[in-house]
Amino acid sequence: MKNILFITIVITGIILLAGATAIDKEEFSINDNTPVVEVLTKFGHPTPPHTVNPMIQGASAEIGQDIVLNGISRKRGKKSRRQSKHFVCTSCHNVQKEDPDLRSHDPQARLEYAQKNGLSFLQGTTLYGAVNRTSWYNGDYNKKYDAEKIKPAQTDLREAIQLCATECAQGRPLKDWELESVLAYMWTLQLKMSDLSMSDTDKKRLKNEQSDISKYPALAKLVRSYYSEAAPATFTDQPSNLKEGYSLSGNADNGKLVYDLSCKHCHENGRYSMFILDDDKMTYRFMKRNFTKYTRYSTYHVTSYGAATNVKAPYMPNYTLERLSKQQTEDLRAYFEKMSE
Ligand code: HEC
Ligand code: HEC
Repeated sequence: MKNILFITIVITGIILLAGATAIDKEEFSINDNTPVVEVLTKFGHPTPPHTVNPMIQGASAEIGQDIVLNGISRKRGKKSRRQSKHFVCTSCHNVQKEDPDLRSHDPQARLEYAQKNGLSFLQGTTLYGAVNRTSWYNGDYNKKYDAEKIKPAQTDLREAIQLCATECAQGRPLKDWELESVLAYMWTLQLKMSDLSMSDTDKKRLKNEQSDISKYPALAKLVRSYYSEAAPATFTDQPSNLKEGYSLSGNADNGKLVYDLSCKHCHENGRYSMFILDDDKMTYRFMKRNFTKYTRYSTYHVTSYGAATNVKAPYMPNYTLERLSKQQTEDLRAYFEKMSE
């Protein structure tokens, strides 16, 4: 009797185990909607340290979205204090995919993609896929902030969010549940396999080899080769001779895109700045005249170094070369010149 019971248990166990592995294999199929992080985890990568902490009470992606888009969070129906008097996160960041090829940081490809998809063209890197990066505030951002402040933000997404809330948005630090909410929202913006636009050959390879454990490290490497895990940042200087500029000939049509999708995002109707940019001929003439002058209104100056009229007031972040090329700056100049005629 005991033996029969034992055999039954063993057999049931085997059946359950076989069933479980079958299900496991089925679930493992990768499709366009599979999150990249999930694929990498299957292939043996550790889960990122900024995975949402479920122990933090009252946090949700919905609240996070509210903070990022509107600057205000609701906690159990109650509104909390605005995060910043001056900005919301989307003043400076998109929340959509903004680079057609996630391996590249080409500002011209991004500008054209922004036009096609109704996005803005901004100084901050998109929050889409921020959870898929492994470092933040890269490159020359080391020059902008004290090492003590920036070092923790370069290796920890939570710290990066807090640094930006206080330094970029010039607001108050986020409370625990707000921070975890923003993080939860960012996880809804994580990269999916379809965002990678893998080649057919590589897709096939992934499909054929995905259940072969010995192939996991190579497959993880393959997936990671399709996107960038850090947004590089190169600061630039204004030209040494403003009249000569960057010695590139500008394309006014392209300059119009920069004006409409970037400058106007903040300056139209005084949205984030008292300094108003519109389509008035007077405005174009003003911008043209000041472009090549040593004044606070010179576009060369503000795009390279940013602008602040007062320490407590909103400021304009500088553009890195990954966010606005020298060519695009000259295109803007050509546009102001054309519109001044
Ligand atoms: C005034 C403009 C501005 C505002 C407002 C702003 N940011 Fe930023 N943020 C930047 C800039 C510029 C960077 C520099 C690094 C980059 O994005 O390329 C940055 C960097 C970041 C990074 C690191 C990105 C990376 O890959 O290096 C995160 C995350 C971030 N911000 C989150 C936020 C959140 C969340 C808010 C709202 C609470 C916010 N930011 C508000 C301008 C801004
Ligand atoms: C993320 C928002 C943002 C973007 C994008 C932006 N600016 Fe600004 N800009 C500001 C803010 C904020 C100020 C600070 C002025 C103020 O106090 O209102 C400013 C200041 C300036 C100033 C100096 C004004 C003064 O009173 O000293 C100029 C000129 C200027 N911006 C031009 C531009 C141009 C040209 C572009 C496009 C290439 C641009 N800005 C893009 C937010 C922005």
